[in-house]
Amino acid sequence: MIIRKYRTGDFEGIMSVWVATGMGSPERGDDASVIELSLTMGGEMFLLTDEDNGRIIGTSWITFDGRRLLLHHFGIIPEYQGLGLSKELLKETLSFVKEKGIQVKLEVHKDNKRAINLYKKAGFQYLGDYHVYIIRDTNTIY
Ligand SMILES: CC(C)(COP(=O)(O)OP(=O)(O)OC[C@H]1O[C@@H](n2cnc3c(N)ncnc32)[C@H](O)[C@@H]1OP(=O)(O)O)[C@@H](O)C(=O)NCCC(=O)NCCS
Repeated sequence: MIIRKYRTGDFEGIMSVWVATGMGSPERGDDASVIELSLTMGGEMFLLTDEDNGRIIGTSWITFDGRRLLLHHFGIIPEYQGLGLSKELLKETLSFVKEKGIQVKLEVHKDNKRAINLYKKAGFQYLGDYHVYIIRDTNTIY
């Protein structure tokens, strides 16, 4: 397996990972242009690929809002899960974070025990009983 950074033309492969891992819902509004904008703002997209065929099998997306780094869309397609590959992908991602020297935050569903274990083992600490809110449709703002 090889971990590499995003290249133009990767979006289709990325989306197939997101669909296979339940992270690709259209209402999130993520597309190639959003990824590329996040890169210009100091983010990074790490891709886990199968070196035998070049297939993208995992994604780890770091965005930067000018204050904190945010880890999004961290996942590996089911057929490659359970092999410890997520630890390698997270290690590479956190090396980037360490290099930047900026606090990193993530959201994970409370029932996602696999991901929670992984993040805790990597040093993430639970921030507290916060609820997460979003306005998806800005036309609803009054
Ligand atoms: C979360 C995810 C990336 C983990 O990848 P994986 O290939 O399943 O896990 P790995 O084999 O790499 O194991 C890494 C760690 O995850 C945790 N883990 C893995 N399987 C687990 C299980 N069944 N129960 C509890 N923890 C588990 C462990 O901490 C494990 O490390 P350890 O073996 O040293 O204890 C993967 O399951 C996934 O893509 N899930 C769908 C997308 C998702 O939910 N992403 C998180 C969004 S916030």
